[in-house]
Amino acid sequence: MGHVLFTKAVLAGASRKVPAAILAPLAVLPEFQHQGVGRALIEHGASLLAASGVQLLFVLGHPGYYTRCGFVPAFPFGLRAPYPIVPEEAWMVRPLVPDVLGTVTGVIACPESMAKPEYWRE
Ligand SMILES: CC(C)(COP(=O)(O)OP(=O)(O)OC[C@H]1O[C@@H](n2cnc3c(N)ncnc32)[C@H](O)[C@@H]1OP(=O)(O)O)[C@@H](O)C(=O)NCCC(=O)NCCS
Repeated sequence: MGHVLFTKAVLAGASRKVPAAILAPLAVLPEFQHQGVGRALIEHGASLLAASGVQLLFVLGHPGYYTRCGFVPAFPFGLRAPYPIVPEEAWMVRPLVPDVLGTVTGVIACPESMAKPEYWRE
């Protein structure tokens, strides 16, 4: 019905170690869309990540969709992407623990498999 992948990421330049992950890609087969499958994949993944100690979950995607799933724009919190993002609002973060947003800044250093500028276009 759908697929989601989470990849571990490092927040470089942060004043303390903050375990992070990137959500990408998320997709639901057309015949199963609009039934909450996408949201369920995000919620289930987020709870597994939180249980494993991840504190920040990042995504590059449609602001209209992800802001309905607990994400907020990341740049205003000093949480930067590894490549320039246009529009900036498409780079978002969801805190998985209380009181983490606003207490740490840095740039996501993504794994080598994602380190290509063409993967970072919305
Ligand atoms: C985006 C996607 C994963 C959503 O999956 P889904 O199972 O339909 O999502 P949910 O049922 O949890 O939520 C659906 C709601 O999100 C809204 N939505 C979907 N895409 C949206 C977008 N780009 N902007 C704003 N809202 C969006 C829908 O309007 C829908 O609301 P409605 O049911 O009230 O009409 C699915 O549409 C998809 O696979 N799209 C193609 C791949 C893609 O774009 N992936 C995201 C990459 S960032």
